[in-house]
Amino acid sequence: MAPSRARRPRRYLTCEPRHFDVLYAINPWMREGTPVDTERALTQWRTLVAAYRDHGHTVETVEPTPGLPDMVFAANAALVLGGRVLGSRFHAPRRQPESAAYEIWFKAAGFDVHEPQAVCEGEGDLVPVGPYVLAGTGFRTAPAAHQEVQEFFGVPTIGLRLTDPRFYHLDTALFSLEDGERGGGNVAYYPGAFSPGSRAVLERLFPDAVIATEDDALAFGLNAVCDGRHVFIDPGARSLIGRLAHRGYVPVPVDLSEFRKAGGGIKCCTQEIRP
Ligand code: ARG
Repeated sequence: MAPSRARRPRRYLTCEPRHFDVLYAINPWMREGTPVDTERALTQWRTLVAAYRDHGHTVETVEPTPGLPDMVFAANAALVLGGRVLGSRFHAPRRQPESAAYEIWFKAAGFDVHEPQAVCEGEGDLVPVGPYVLAGTGFRTAPAAHQEVQEFFGVPTIGLRLTDPRFYHLDTALFSLEDGERGGGNVAYYPGAFSPGSRAVLERLFPDAVIATEDDALAFGLNAVCDGRHVFIDPGARSLIGRLAHRGYVPVPVDLSEFRKAGGGIKCCTQEIRP
C-alpha cells in the first residue's frame, strides 16, 4: 500500500499576469507575436493561487512591471533557502530588469538579496531536494553559478546538464517530491532531458524517483509544485499523475495552458520562500 504523505504549509510568491505577453522568443515554446489571451491567463493564474490557498498555503504577490512580460515567472527571480535570498542574473537581456523588480519586493519583505555574478535563473534551474540543491545548466544558468549557490548556502550543489532545448530550465524536466532536509529527498523527472552522466547521477541519488514520459514532460507535468502531499500539476500529464497517485501523493490538476505560449507552467509561476 502507498504511504500516506504529510503536507508542510508553504509560503509562495507569485506575480499577477497583468502584463504577460510573448514579445520575443528565447525558448522553443515561444513564437514572437503570438496573441496572448490576458483574461484567460489571469483566470488560470487566479485558479492556481486559489488552489494553493485552499490547501493551506500562503500566497503573496509582487507588483508586475509593464514591459516585462516574463515577470510572471516568479521562480526565475531567486532561490530562497533558510530565509536567505540568492537573486538572479538572467541570460536574456530582455529579462534582466526583472531581477531588480523582485529585489524591491524581497527588500520590502525584510530580506537581503545576494546578487549572483554568473548567469543564474533562480528556481528555474535550482531545485532544493533533501540535503542538496540540484542545479541545471546547458541553456541558462552557468556552472559558475552552481559554485556560487554552494558557497552562499553551504549546501552541496549538484550540477546536472540539460540537453534538450524544449526543456531549457531544470524545472521543466524535474521537480522535488521531498525537500525536507531529513532523508535523502526524492524527485520526479524525465530522463530524456539530461546528458548520460547527469542521468547516471540522478539514478544514483534517487533510486526511488518517479520517472515521467516524454508526453508528461511535453505537457509540462514536471513543472509541478509539491507540498509533501499534494502535487499541483498540469492535467495533461496523465501518466505521471497516475504514477504519483500510486505512490501516495494527491495530484491537484491546475491548467496554466495560456502560459505555455511563453514556455511556462505551474512551477515557473511560483517562487517558494523557505524560512
Ligand atoms: N519565457 C520565459 C523564459 O524563457 C519562461 C520562463 C519559465 N520559467 C521557468 N521557471 N521555467 O525565460
